[in-house]
Amino acid sequence: MKRHLIIACAAALAAAATVVGANIAAAATTRYEAETAPAVCTGTIDSNHTGFSGSGFCNGTNAIGAAAQFTVTASAAGSATLGVRYANGTTTARPADVLVNGTRVAGASFDGTGAWTTWVTTTLTVTLASGSNIIRLSPTTADGLANVDYVELTTAAGPTPDPTPCAPPTTSPSPSNPSTPPITVWLAGDSTVANPASGTTCPVGWGNQFAQYFTGSVTVKNNAVAGRSIQTWLYDPNVTTTTDSSGECVISPATYSTRWQAMLDATTGMKSGDYLLIQFGINDGTSTCPRHVGSARYQQLLGVMASAAKARGAHPVFLTPVAAITCSGSTAVGNRGFLTETNAAAGANGVPVIDLHRLSYTLYNTLAFCPNNGDYTSGPVGAFFCDDHTHFEAAGAKQIAGVVASALRNQQIPLAAYLK
Ligand code: GCU
Ligand code: CA
Repeated sequence: MKRHLIIACAAALAAAATVVGANIAAAATTRYEAETAPAVCTGTIDSNHTGFSGSGFCNGTNAIGAAAQFTVTASAAGSATLGVRYANGTTTARPADVLVNGTRVAGASFDGTGAWTTWVTTTLTVTLASGSNIIRLSPTTADGLANVDYVELTTAAGPTPDPTPCAPPTTSPSPSNPSTPPITVWLAGDSTVANPASGTTCPVGWGNQFAQYFTGSVTVKNNAVAGRSIQTWLYDPNVTTTTDSSGECVISPATYSTRWQAMLDATTGMKSGDYLLIQFGINDGTSTCPRHVGSARYQQLLGVMASAAKARGAHPVFLTPVAAITCSGSTAVGNRGFLTETNAAAGANGVPVIDLHRLSYTLYNTLAFCPNNGDYTSGPVGAFFCDDHTHFEAAGAKQIAGVVASALRNQQIPLAAYLK
């Protein structure tokens, strides 16, 4: 009969469990397959080496930072056991950092297992927040990760998860709430992020529509500029049209742009508690200087920006480039580069990544934007995009900004405490 008790909230459940000693769950183990979204694999999902669970495994690109990432759920904050099932058919270990919600918490060595078909589970202890957590295995050598089959999370015994949660606390973030002091969210990006030019209604970048998702404790400073690569944004007007012998654009003099200098300024720039959201990778793919940015340089510059933010106590967040609308039959598909680079830089610098590329084309699928007749002047697609397939009307920008806001919450990035 105890099973038929209707318990209204977690506190009541805990109390009841203490009294009757019956509603305590045994330690629970949940498996998260590497091939199942929202898991992310910087590489390919393969199935050529037998013995894996589910429909495949993550064969990460052989590169530093080419990660396997899992979104796991913990019913309560605290310590949990993480089993990682992997195969390494080489005789060399494939060490990786283990990041939880963007912070390195451990390393794992992923020693050789004798064959690519021999799968073993290595176990780590991690501390998780209550709810959703991002666990990222980020290789630290150029060999990349071992092949990763799944992770299994075992949480300690405790009260059974509450099917009818208690109401959230009624205190909301406000300037007077010491847990959410006033901060600035700085945005660096291109035209898909930027404010509209004065007197124009298109394009409108998502950064222009971001502030409405936050409480009054957040000031959004949108410093995105149309047409910029990460490098021209950082060094305007000093990136020349000359290419050096390594294929990168010559910067002369090597002086930062006034916008970045202002953000580095001790009094007017980024300060402790602020956030810096960085989204480039659209103009950077241009083959010629000054816009061109190579792979290694792109990663390096993300690292430079992240380090500068961290040095001031601010929190960097990387975003993959927002997708344009491209249909493959009735499916909106990805069309941007610098995805691997963004993830690698995130791994190397311990910075969370919002995969806006994937989240944006997923939104286009939710909105059934494919197929379309290519007319971006009318209908739902025309209301979202300018008369091209890249830039947004205010309405589209607002929806993309909403996707970024949701990602902050879903990925438990602490800036989410400031969302309305
Ligand atoms: C082989 C193997 C892959 C593995 C790769 C590697 O190509 O078939 O599954 O990922 O080696 O060395 O990473
Ligand atoms: Ca591999």
